[in-house]
Amino acid sequence: MTSEREKEQNELQPNNITNTNRVFRSEEHELTLTLEQKAALERQDTRLVSSFRTDKFDKESKKHWDIFYKRNETRFFKDRHWTTREFWELCCSTNESETCKKILVEIGCGVGNFAFPLLEDEKCDLFIYVCDFSPRAIDFVKNHKLYDENRIVAFVCDISVISAYSSAPVPSEGADFTSLMFVLSAIAPEKFETAITNASQLLKKSEGLLIFRDYAVNDMAMFRFGPNSKVSSRRYVRQDGTMTYFFEKDEIELLMQKCGFQTVTLEYVERRTINKKEGVDVPRLFLQGKFRKL
Ligand SMILES: C[S@@+](CC[C@H](N)C(=O)[O-])C[C@H]1O[C@@H](n2cnc3c(N)ncnc32)[C@H](O)[C@@H]1O
Repeated sequence: MTSEREKEQNELQPNNITNTNRVFRSEEHELTLTLEQKAALERQDTRLVSSFRTDKFDKESKKHWDIFYKRNETRFFKDRHWTTREFWELCCSTNESETCKKILVEIGCGVGNFAFPLLEDEKCDLFIYVCDFSPRAIDFVKNHKLYDENRIVAFVCDISVISAYSSAPVPSEGADFTSLMFVLSAIAPEKFETAITNASQLLKKSEGLLIFRDYAVNDMAMFRFGPNSKVSSRRYVRQDGTMTYFFEKDEIELLMQKCGFQTVTLEYVERRTINKKEGVDVPRLFLQGKFRKL
């Protein structure tokens, strides 16, 4: 595991998170950068990744993620137990009790750290489709003890290609929810619209909800990259060849609008990850939103 990866992993330890729930505007981030942070960003600009290498990383993105799962298996991402606190719509409302049966399609599911806790949550009554372009990740999902095709179906799918779901086992315009959890940041910016449009095609008209969470500009992880890892504005390649991107609120709002969504909520959320045992106390900054298909 690489050093950025080890540090990044701390963000994904849900049991030790304290939430401050502050909401930021992107200009505030610019204003509040420390001298060290400004210096880190300047250092990154001293040596950028060439466009030739960037193209190669983009073309081989699936291979790098598959190798990531070969190396880390199911150990890297921890189960996300905060989901229904933040995205309460996934639960049945009180008058629906346990029989509200809704369909969720999780895009870029990794090894199922988002999906399986939802299956276990008694407040939800979800049928979940999950997909990822890493065949190894999907194999891990299928081998999970809770995997049962009466409740969850996993399949391999690349969301960055047009009509990604045309031959997938998901009902077109049949989902109540789609989720993009730390997935868009792994995709090349020129493919963002294709990926969001694919997500939209799965959702029910006028009521389908897309839920989103990803890295925000000036998240701590952004400052940890050194020279020879910046690809373009707010985009980086990790030592393991996977790519990441840090979003601005306005660009997500615009992208969603272009792809036929209305913003329900969208905010910067600050999280503090504290792991006393390992002496870790790391501030993180994410962008989180809910978008209604028009
Ligand atoms: C940072 S991980 C997040 C995994 C999971 N959503 C979670 O929150 O634990 C990003 C995931 O997106 C997947 N991914 C990246 N690009 C993809 C694409 N074009 N199509 C489908 N999955 C993709 C990767 O394989 C990886 O599993």
